[in-house]
Amino acid sequence: MKRLGVLLSGRGSNFEAIARHIDNGQLEAEIAVVISNLADAPGLATARSLGLKALWVGGKGLSRDQYDQRLIEVLQEHQVDLVCLAGFMRLLGPVMVQAFPERILNIHPSLLPAFPGLHAQRQALEHGVKFAGCTVHFVDEGVDSGPIIRQAAVPVRDHDTEATLSARILQQEHRIYAEAIALVLNEEYRIENRRVIG
Ligand code: GRF
Repeated sequence: MKRLGVLLSGRGSNFEAIARHIDNGQLEAEIAVVISNLADAPGLATARSLGLKALWVGGKGLSRDQYDQRLIEVLQEHQVDLVCLAGFMRLLGPVMVQAFPERILNIHPSLLPAFPGLHAQRQALEHGVKFAGCTVHFVDEGVDSGPIIRQAAVPVRDHDTEATLSARILQQEHRIYAEAIALVLNEEYRIENRRVIG
């Protein structure tokens, strides 16, 4: 059974969706460890309540490389095959990316390459786009810049607020993240230049 390491900093609804897909038998994997850089991340408490291994790995006073090294140790200790970033609000550096080549995924709430970085849904509304969405991509050394595995689009409605648009996008996040994880775990893809085929 392939082992996932989930990294989160917040409420953890994407983590919960992954856990649900596993419980329903829609995703063949197990969650080996859930890690947060924030001790009080609600997602960490949820993981504990589900009986999963949940760890706080604080980064205070550590450089990016030192923090990455710490994460790598914990992930390797738990024999993680694939790292899933699920609202993890700390940038990973080359040390981490090179330790897990093509083995770190992220979910971002925009149709990348539009609106990388923070508050993607707000950026989309402010720009006035008519379609927004979400992207699961491999993590490389840039910000939200790695090869795209899955995307889903949703319409932007005239009356949308950041909250209503985010909720519409989130439903799709929960669906495509599990799909992308299955694709990568089953090695049913290949990468041609930047294109993930599969
Ligand atoms: C999601 O919108 C995800 O796309 C972004 O951070 C948010 C995390 O939400 N990277 P949750 O903690 O998974 O509910």
